Amino acid sequence: MDVRLAVVILAAGKSTRFRSTKSKLLHSICGQTVIEWVMDAVLPLNPEQIVLVHGPHNAEELRSKLGDTYSDGDSTVALTYTLQNPPLGTAHAVLQAEPVLAEGITDIIVLPGDAPMIDHETLQMLFEARNQSGAEHSVLTALTEDPTGYGRIIHSGDPEDGIIESIVEEADATEEQRYINEVNSGMYLLSARVFEQLRNAADTIGKSRVKEEYYLPDIVRMAPTAACLCDDFVSISGINDREQLAWAEAEILDALRRSWMQAGVTFRLPETTYMHADVKLDEDVEIGPNCVLINGTEVGRGTIIGTGCVLDNANIGEHCRLLHVRALDCDIDDSVSVGPYVNLRPGTHLHDNVKVGNFVETKNADIGAGSKLPHLQYVGDAELGERVNIGAGTIFCNYDGMNKHRIQVGNDVFIGSNSSLQAPLTIEDGAYVAMGSAITKNVPADALAVGRARQENKAGYARMLREKARRLKEQRAMEQVHEDEQAGGEE
Ligand code: UD1
Ligand code: MG
Repeated sequence: MDVRLAVVILAAGKSTRFRSTKSKLLHSICGQTVIEWVMDAVLPLNPEQIVLVHGPHNAEELRSKLGDTYSDGDSTVALTYTLQNPPLGTAHAVLQAEPVLAEGITDIIVLPGDAPMIDHETLQMLFEARNQSGAEHSVLTALTEDPTGYGRIIHSGDPEDGIIESIVEEADATEEQRYINEVNSGMYLLSARVFEQLRNAADTIGKSRVKEEYYLPDIVRMAPTAACLCDDFVSISGINDREQLAWAEAEILDALRRSWMQAGVTFRLPETTYMHADVKLDEDVEIGPNCVLINGTEVGRGTIIGTGCVLDNANIGEHCRLLHVRALDCDIDDSVSVGPYVNLRPGTHLHDNVKVGNFVETKNADIGAGSKLPHLQYVGDAELGERVNIGAGTIFCNYDGMNKHRIQVGNDVFIGSNSSLQAPLTIEDGAYVAMGSAITKNVPADALAVGRARQENKAGYARMLREKARRLKEQRAMEQVHEDEQAGGEE
């Protein structure tokens, strides 16, 4: 029979130990939420449906964040929500999925919503374990030195066949059982008969006397269930507080960076790079120490991202060099050099061979190929042609206190240092602006614009000023002596 798969994610628990106003499943790890990491692990298994079992407390936030479908870019799956209220345990939670399950589903993978490090290769093993043993269900298990808090796996007579006799929860375990270090991951592959079996279990086994809950692990007592031992405890671990969130993020980051290294990216001090999962890097990209690459940033072949760059939704071409650059919502074409200490704000587009030097800020600026902003400029709301040279200290005055206006600069324009350009303004191709100018009127092509007071040299004036100052000083000193003599006489 063909497998028609649904995934049920258990998410009705309260994230008490997170001490957060939002569900722990909506906290992010490398740019995507914990629950999205879980869904990413199941999508390659081609489920027809994902059912989220939520509580009344997180219904709205899960729905509004996740919507009715989930896509990882390659495939899309329907998301269905079902309420568990009150939460009567994991078995009861799974039963809430039954009424909303799509017609014809044969198999169900059950996952806790808070285990973001699971991957599809590990989940795939659940199918193999079930097929090899001929069991009806399978459960992912792992060995750990500290099994505290987990359900312990008790094998039936022949450990080779992998069939589980029972799973004993920590709260219900005997002293001896607590030494068992094979634990239940809480991840299962179940046949669709599970609902009927869970109802039978509720009648025959009932609730745990200790925790007053219906246990999903009791399914192993209702139908033959195979243990599928996974060799990596990390991949099944859940997160319950912010320390574990940070740990999970470090593990995921490490895996991300290693996979980019395999893909041909050099990291200098890789452990100092923070990045999101949606970042894309070409071969021969090099990332220096202390860099942050987030929100879909892409970097082209041969580009060197030097020390201390923060790239947020930046699209960077090939063979560029950046050093100490912050770029947000920007496009950078090929062979561009930026930095150090540059702030590229949203809407910046640097075309091929542009050079942006130190202490420069840009915003909403389209800088044509080969143009240079070597040092200390503010260029906002502007369009620059090709081969434009902007002198040090030039300011594009785009704001009149109420509105923003644009400045157009043609090809081959030269702006002298320390000029202020008042928007709205057009400076046409080939024009020159003399340094220190305040430019308030349009400049025609090939014209020289001088917008400052003319310099005048007054011969000998400086010497005259110095002598005047010296005379004044002498006069004051004499007056002081006179005052002191008078004061002495009066005593
Ligand atoms: C559960 C397993 C345990 C396993 C461990 C792995 C049971 C009884 N025990 O224990 O064998 O080793 O997971 O982490 O299943 N949930 C609901 N509704 C409920 C109760 C729980 O949706 O009524 C959800 C929680 O939000 C969570 C998941 O089910 O995502 C697991 O519940 P949790 O309370 O964490 O179970 P554990 O005690 O950790
Ligand atoms: Mg748990």
